[in-house]
Amino acid sequence: MGLFLKFINQTRKPEGLLGKIMLNGMNFGHAKCADWGLSRLPAARPAKILELGCGGGRNARAMLAAFPGSRVDAIDVSPLAVAKTAKLNAAAVAAGRCSATVGDVAGTPLPSGAYDLATAFETVYFWKDLAKCFARVRDALAPGGLFLICDESDGTDAAARQYERMIDGMKSWTAPELEAALKEAGFSAVRTAHHDSKPWIAVVATK
Ligand SMILES: C[S@@+](CC[C@H](N)C(=O)[O-])C[C@H]1O[C@@H](n2cnc3c(N)ncnc32)[C@H](O)[C@@H]1O
Repeated sequence: MGLFLKFINQTRKPEGLLGKIMLNGMNFGHAKCADWGLSRLPAARPAKILELGCGGGRNARAMLAAFPGSRVDAIDVSPLAVAKTAKLNAAAVAAGRCSATVGDVAGTPLPSGAYDLATAFETVYFWKDLAKCFARVRDALAPGGLFLICDESDGTDAAARQYERMIDGMKSWTAPELEAALKEAGFSAVRTAHHDSKPWIAVVATK
């Protein structure tokens, strides 16, 4: 595998030096889309947030700032990503407002009924058995809790096909595919916002 392919494959589980570079790049490169996705949430002040596939922790930091008094528990399959998230949010970790833990959405035990908001920025592309993962997220939410999925790709853009060819196991889901899997997992009131000029989507589902 060439260097570029090795680098781009770091998106699914950052490791080593290339993973470090990728985590910095994602913190910078995903920020605008993530902020747009967060702006699609209905007005609410979530107190307990589960940040899934946290990458470099920039979005955990953004939510800690956007929701004063909230607590963010971040998980990621990559120990490197978890370390970066903990470092970036060190003050919040020390204050008991943030945790960063190695975990897989598909299998790591999550507390039941504990969260007001669960977030998944640019990560569901890599989740195996989407409906099963979504059912686990639903279980972790309190009644009325929200699940935000935010992706730069709506699964129909040319870039999505290109990335799918280059990145092992990646799948760019379309909005109808995500909505169907969310409903299968028992979510109600599933709504997708599409960006005006980019293929960005923000799907908000309610438990
Ligand atoms: C493209 S990166 C996005 C990172 C960050 N959310 C962002 O927007 O910059 C995808 C992240 O999801 C993580 N990931 C992939 N599959 C996962 C799973 N099943 N459970 C938890 N994290 C996962 C990867 O390790 C990686 O850090």
